[in-house]
Amino acid sequence: MTEPEVSVPAVMRNYHEVLRNDLSKVLTPLAQTGAVADFAAAWQGYCKAIAVHAAMEDGVEGAGGGSAAMLDLHFDGAAGAAVFAAEHVEEHAMQHAVGGAIPNGAEAVRSAFASYRVFAEAHLKHEEDIMMPLVARLPMSAKPALFATWCLSAGIAHGEFEHFVAHGVQSLSTFGSAKNTPVGATRVFVHALKTLCTPMQWATYGPVARRAMPPEIWAGVVAEVPSLDDAPLRAA
Ligand SMILES: [Fe+2]
Ligand SMILES: [Fe+2]
Repeated sequence: MTEPEVSVPAVMRNYHEVLRNDLSKVLTPLAQTGAVADFAAAWQGYCKAIAVHAAMEDGVEGAGGGSAAMLDLHFDGAAGAAVFAAEHVEEHAMQHAVGGAIPNGAEAVRSAFASYRVFAEAHLKHEEDIMMPLVARLPMSAKPALFATWCLSAGIAHGEFEHFVAHGVQSLSTFGSAKNTPVGATRVFVHALKTLCTPMQWATYGPVARRAMPPEIWAGVVAEVPSLDDAPLRAA
């Protein structure tokens, strides 16, 4: 059986679908119904995950330089890493405002989160508009090594990478993405992650991914990509 071709940039791009799911399908209903305690728990999981994603874009000192710097290097500064780093600073300040609103109750959360969501969704779109056309121009054969070196290593060095994987897989296997089913979206992300990982890294993150999705989604994923079925469930 021929497996579908892997798209390694999905480790970055599909995480935007995770973040959009969080914003629109998880956090917005909780904010709107005034379920502040549940919102606070979901918000914490979201903030930890997006911090890893942002580290994979901005880079981590002593590890990978991040996707924006990678694209700047290959395309003569066309990605504008400094612009996106500045947006991350602003986004982080707005995250802080949402966190600060939680003790003040439902109305404060609704208002701070509504402002944050507008900014965060615009940021995702801005990155996609600038970066996706550049990523498409990278030589296909070079992409796995580039994304592993510049992005994956930064995410792992940042810390909380197991949370990042579990959070992303949970979201995609529950909601899918704008253009893909839960099985399809999960498969694309996990296939990309495995391709970027060394065998040792995959021995850690493969089981995390597998545990984060329902068994029926895993069955669908390995039906499409049988070679992913090398991630034994780690003893709890
Ligand atoms: Fe970003
Ligand atoms: Fe991003």
